[in-house]
Amino acid sequence: MKKIGILFGMENTFPQAFVDRINSKNIKGIVAEAVQVDVVQQADPTEYAVIVDRISQDVPFYRAYLKNAALMGTAVVNNPFWWSADEKFFNNCLSKTIGVPVPNTVILPSYNRPDDTTEQSFRNLKFPTDWDRIFNYIKFPAYMKPHAGGGWKSVYKVTSPEDLWKKHAETDQLVMLLQEEIVFDHYFRCYYLAGDRVHIMPYEPRNPHHLRYVVDNPTKDKALLAKVEDYTKKLCHGLGYDFNTVEFAVRDGIPIAIDFCNPAPDADVNSVGEQNFDWIVENAAQMAIEKAQNHKPGEMNLTWGKFISNIFTQDAGTVAKKTKK
Ligand SMILES: Nc1ncnc2c1ncn2[C@@H]1O[C@H](COP(=O)(O)OP(=O)(O)O)[C@@H](O)[C@H]1O
Ligand SMILES: [Mg+2]
Repeated sequence: MKKIGILFGMENTFPQAFVDRINSKNIKGIVAEAVQVDVVQQADPTEYAVIVDRISQDVPFYRAYLKNAALMGTAVVNNPFWWSADEKFFNNCLSKTIGVPVPNTVILPSYNRPDDTTEQSFRNLKFPTDWDRIFNYIKFPAYMKPHAGGGWKSVYKVTSPEDLWKKHAETDQLVMLLQEEIVFDHYFRCYYLAGDRVHIMPYEPRNPHHLRYVVDNPTKDKALLAKVEDYTKKLCHGLGYDFNTVEFAVRDGIPIAIDFCNPAPDADVNSVGEQNFDWIVENAAQMAIEKAQNHKPGEMNLTWGKFISNIFTQDAGTVAKKTKK
């Protein structure tokens, strides 16, 4: 018997639907349930072949539990080691090296110093910041957002240097990305699930929250949609996510990746709508079943990104060298 578990927090619609969908398929040797976490003892295996993790980004105790589970052979979706290491700036850097367009982007040293550091801790950092160089590259208006964040928290649109400095002063110890604004003709959110399952959702971020997935006359441009699908796969393969959403803003026919570090993406029927919900429930169920069937007991059953695999299989420098202009 292979058990599939789901680990979740406050969300109410997706987890039970996922469990019910798997069990309703009555596949011999496969059963799904909500993960039961008991006492967590080092190097103890879990009873799960697969765990779909929807919450460890907010619960460090669960992240530690999942790393042990992965070491003991559970296929954890998404890879908890990679998820711990990843952030949006790295996403953009990787995106450029694999040929997926991203907005011009820099990171800013945090406005307030991290706890327990002093001016001396920053002797390597050139001061004052060369703002002119940054502004020439990014231009205004621009977006400023946490380099490791999500859920639209602390996302600012900034219109001038003064506006940027004023808003930056509100961000305390956060490391912020400063990014060129993409004025877009279309915007997409794309679900990705391992096994190259991609679902493109037209999205209107300028609508109120409950209407963002309602788009009048979504484009039927086949070449554009094919490019969006191709870029979604490239990014998720590169980063090594099994379950993600990738957002693109389309400018002059070119999809530009905006946000693709969403390893516990919104899958609530009340925000994504019936049709998208049904897609994600069915495809997540299929993916988890495949992973359970391919699960090799006692081995590492995690997905790693192509980027990481390259480090182990070739000179790491070649990736960057190949793409240098
Ligand atoms: N560079 C950008 N150009 C245009 N719009 C942007 C840009 N960056 C962010 N946005 C807008 O802000 C929203 C939230 O930013 P996003 O990067 O998706 O952060 P989060 O991870 O918090 O969702 C996006 O859905 C998009 O509408
Ligand atoms: Mg987003």
